[in-house]
Amino acid sequence: MPIDITRTLWSPQGRILHGADYCPEQWSPDVWREDIALMQQCGVNVVSIGMFAWSFLETDDEKYDFGWFDEVVGLLTRAEISIFMATPSGARPAWLAQRYPEVLRVNKNGQRNGFGFRHNHCMTSPQYRRKVAAINEQLARRYGHLDQVLLWHVSNEYCGECFCDLCKAAFREWLQRRYGSLEALNKAWWTAFWSHVYTDWSQVEPPTPHGEPQLHGLNLDWKRFTTAQTVDFMQAEIAALRLCDQTTPVTTNTMGIFDGVDSSKICAELDVVSWDAYPRWHDDAKDEVLVASRTGFWHDLNRSLGGGKPFLLMESTPSILNWQEVNRPKQPGMHRLSSLQAVAHGADSVQYFQWRASRGGPEKFHGAVVNHGHTANSRVFREVAELGQTLAGLGELSGATTPVEAAIYFDWDNRWAYEDNQSLRNDRKGYIEEIETWYHALWRQSIATDLIVEEAPIDGYKLVIAPLLYMLKDGVAERMTRFVEGGGCLLFTYGSGWVNDSDLIFEGGQLAPLRELLGIRVLETFVHRDHERVAIVPERALSALSGDYASVDLSELIEVEGAEVLARYGSQYFSGTPCLTRNRVGRGAAMYSGCRAEAAFVNDLVADLSESLGLATCWPCALPEGVHARQRVNGDHRYVFLMNFTHHTQAIPLAGQEVASLDGVSVSDESLSLKPLGVTVVKVGHTGEPKPAAAMPRPLVSTKS
Ligand code: GAL
Ligand code: ZN
Repeated sequence: MPIDITRTLWSPQGRILHGADYCPEQWSPDVWREDIALMQQCGVNVVSIGMFAWSFLETDDEKYDFGWFDEVVGLLTRAEISIFMATPSGARPAWLAQRYPEVLRVNKNGQRNGFGFRHNHCMTSPQYRRKVAAINEQLARRYGHLDQVLLWHVSNEYCGECFCDLCKAAFREWLQRRYGSLEALNKAWWTAFWSHVYTDWSQVEPPTPHGEPQLHGLNLDWKRFTTAQTVDFMQAEIAALRLCDQTTPVTTNTMGIFDGVDSSKICAELDVVSWDAYPRWHDDAKDEVLVASRTGFWHDLNRSLGGGKPFLLMESTPSILNWQEVNRPKQPGMHRLSSLQAVAHGADSVQYFQWRASRGGPEKFHGAVVNHGHTANSRVFREVAELGQTLAGLGELSGATTPVEAAIYFDWDNRWAYEDNQSLRNDRKGYIEEIETWYHALWRQSIATDLIVEEAPIDGYKLVIAPLLYMLKDGVAERMTRFVEGGGCLLFTYGSGWVNDSDLIFEGGQLAPLRELLGIRVLETFVHRDHERVAIVPERALSALSGDYASVDLSELIEVEGAEVLARYGSQYFSGTPCLTRNRVGRGAAMYSGCRAEAAFVNDLVADLSESLGLATCWPCALPEGVHARQRVNGDHRYVFLMNFTHHTQAIPLAGQEVASLDGVSVSDESLSLKPLGVTVVKVGHTGEPKPAAAMPRPLVSTKS
């Protein structure tokens, strides 16, 4: 039963959390004291500790040393800095790996890893689970009751797979539970192909480069199993904490759209979702605005994975990364903008990796709040301190929610199956790019969007977009039909509706379960040469669209079976045939866009759709390209974030609204002005004090006393 985070994470007045990963184990007590004073200078009110401290907390088997940690916790407590208490399972001590070699992973080629790195543990190993449970229990017993401990931060960025015998055995058991019989498994994986039929469970091996890398059903199930094993491991970690602490909420930091593990399954088990955001700002190869919209997509995904509740930004860099090919520092203003962007999309915290830059190790050049030799005397520190002040003024919007009317499917099983297929265009699968294109079309109009998995309910939305929804799981077509009949607008793209949950092509071929809903049939797919464009010509029903539109890479040839044609191809041997259709069903419509359309078409189509569907935008008039508005709502109060992702000043018309700036930006009667990379938060309409609404958080202390 998830804990109601609104009761525990925030103070009665509400506050946005601000802090960092802090690794006191790397520093002496003198430095701790200096750090805490510096934290207070820049408005840090919470730090995550302990995630990589296992060697210091358990110096040898069952030899625990919490004395130094007690001191750190005490210092933080006296400074009124709260704590996200991490469990240390992400990296293990050398003695542990030496004594229990089974805890280390086995790679795809069957070779056991040596000690080293992090995320190098087998999730199945009973020895590892036992050792993790023991240290977690110790931590929970010692610190779980403290008011200062706001949250359990279990492990760090769960990821990775292991091919050891324990994992193989667990995989076979998982398959037995899923399929019941080998016969069912053989059918689901279509093992008749190349005579791969299994006659005994022991013959089933994980996919490996030197064994079976191409059985799609196996590949998919191995990824699902890896997620299931990760979730099971995490649950075991949480169960150990719960032996001594039943009230402190739990999170783990996930990695956005990372494809190695299905984050939706992890997030379903958490009290609050948190994630680590590392966009590549100022990336020369790409437009800043596209990086902004991509980052917005990641934040929205995390808010959606938490069921729409506020999430935590658990890590971000205050300045630079050090693990990309080229690592460009955030330019002046970018830190404030990117941090408030997270809050705008629903984060109730801004946290960094890390507080103080390490002197050694692989991340010694990674950005940190306190840099080598600079302490408080750096641009980074000053910008963090300024942001701390801004966040302190935004407390009233903690816990505020995000009203959303549009959703886009983003589903790990679908992505895994689609990306694994060997089909027409293996050079440019483009799943993420397709989602980004449709997301961007909504983003540029400041329309808030959820990113949803196939299991998610869709009833409340006005518009649902299904880009490359290659896999249709059981029950999804029925849910979609009800949604459309009830008045929703559902839009699929090319490449959708091919396979079932087991990655088997539908009997009846592409779109078989959706044929009636969509009122079309796909006949064949034209594969473009590189850069070959096929014109898209809107019909009269789309007369508002008048650009130079084209499809690239892939164009499906469609035959309508009752649907209305909204656009046709304008060149090639199929010129004049439909490429965009709409089928009115019940009170809604099911649309199909049969080609990989260039952004201009997607942008204009989505603008037209959102107008006809009356989708609420976060600002009442059009904003300049590159300026995005987002709103959060708390009781009767509406807070709008206006964010300028361009490098020039932008005037934002107020369009008759009464607004009050929460962060000192000057507002005239007509407009407000945003500096290059500028951002401001305004309260719109009711500008009085917020009501202590039911949603307002209660004091932490009440939950633990
Ligand atoms: C995260 C990780 C941190 C740190 C950071 C560097 O993925 O959780 O521990 O490595 O990356 O960007
Ligand atoms: Zn293993």
